[in-house]
Amino acid sequence: MLQILCLVLCGLLTRTRAEPGALLRLGMDVMNLEVQRAMDESHILEKMAAEAGKKRPGVKPIKGITDMKVKDVQLPVITLSFTPGVGIFQCVSTGMTITGKSFIGKRMEINVATNITATNRILQDEETGLPTFKSEGCEVILVSVKTNLPSNMMPNVVNKFLNSTLHKVLPGLMCPAIDAVLVYVNKKWANLYAPMPIGQAGIVKYTLTSVPTTTSSYIQVDFSPVVQQQGGSTIQLAETGEAPRFPKDYVEGSSQLLLSDALLTAELALLQTSLDLNIHKMIGELPPQNTKTLASFIPEVAEAYPKPKPLVTQIRINKPPKVTMNSGESLLYLHGTLEMFAAQWGRAPAPLFLLEAHFNLQIQYSVREDRLQMTTSLNRLLSLSRVSSSIGAFNEKALTGFVTDLLREACIPAVNDVLQVGLPLPDFLDMNYNLAELDIVENALVMDLKLA
Ligand SMILES: *[C@@H]1O[C@H](CO)[C@@H](O)[C@H](O)[C@H]1NC(C)=O
Ligand SMILES: *[C@@H]1O[C@H](CO)[C@@H](O)[C@H](O)[C@H]1NC(C)=O
Repeated sequence: MLQILCLVLCGLLTRTRAEPGALLRLGMDVMNLEVQRAMDESHILEKMAAEAGKKRPGVKPIKGITDMKVKDVQLPVITLSFTPGVGIFQCVSTGMTITGKSFIGKRMEINVATNITATNRILQDEETGLPTFKSEGCEVILVSVKTNLPSNMMPNVVNKFLNSTLHKVLPGLMCPAIDAVLVYVNKKWANLYAPMPIGQAGIVKYTLTSVPTTTSSYIQVDFSPVVQQQGGSTIQLAETGEAPRFPKDYVEGSSQLLLSDALLTAELALLQTSLDLNIHKMIGELPPQNTKTLASFIPEVAEAYPKPKPLVTQIRINKPPKVTMNSGESLLYLHGTLEMFAAQWGRAPAPLFLLEAHFNLQIQYSVREDRLQMTTSLNRLLSLSRVSSSIGAFNEKALTGFVTDLLREACIPAVNDVLQVGLPLPDFLDMNYNLAELDIVENALVMDLKLA
């Protein structure tokens, strides 16, 4: 009884565990670049200076100091670190000069150096489902306070000023700066869920599997990509049994994107019908495509067609293509039929025979813009079997060389043409994939994301 219960429960558990089809690791390199860009784009420095210059309600004027101004807000220096299980700890170090006139008429300057610290928790936005950072526990730490007033002069005034003003005013002044930077970083996830076209055939959408997780050296985002045909039906990613994993040997702090072979297989399923092909002309280096050439392999053809007729070949891919990856090598398996006809003047081509062919291609990956590009070359014709024939039985093995050449010279270039559409890569944080280094590992392609 217990065993049956376990079977049912365990079955449910394994099925509900969504298997990510793509993984993203964001190291400190990417986060530093992002936050720096956000600082530049948000014009945070100018905003802080403007805020600092404003009169603030509730802040009492300081006795003995008139004509007070905040100026020279220094360019903030940002230091980030990962907080496991939470997100990113952020420290913004900056400084400013506060000027005024002391009651004896002397110009007074106070230089304040501060650290603003906050924890940016990474969450999944409830409304959009997108990854999002939210700041928590913003604190302002006075690192140093220097003034041009002699230390024996008005220490009370200075202390009061520091206590009543800086501690009250600075968080309100500085903490929005942290939020402003996060708004910019968060915006850069906005396109992630936009459907990206794969030619005319369909789309892929990189949806999150779960809330991103943080370790001491990266944030990991698991994707369960949705691959959809034009018209709406979804292509399920095949269960591989073992969840894809990053190899261990990447540099600490670096960032990677992993695409599983199951994801690439699902995307290529969209292109299955585009891989069909009709061949009815001379092909490059091949011998003339006619019944005479064919008869040199199958004598039965010569009996049926004593005079040479041009050949027409139809290749139909009848199963979804399959991508496999194995340390250093990736193969594309194609399964289809190959039907040959003898062309005849003024009449429909006469069918000769139909073969079933199973072959695989070697895939070379590259990246262009935000797309993964694939170029293939014939690896091997794996099997060739005769399904039907109008010229009687013959040994189809005799055609192995002829068909291999035909695939290499006619089919593969056509496949490469189709693959030129490229497979879209996730659009986040303005990632530039052009410098990525690609690596084929067990069941996955890993892109080591190099920053400019
Ligand atoms: C201020 O931040 C800098 C940079 O993170 C750090 O080195 C320094 O120790 C901090 N100072 C204080 C007083 O927290
Ligand atoms: C300022 O605050 C510190 C502690 O926060 C306290 O020791 C000091 O007495 C205060 N000074 C004045 C002038 O209020």
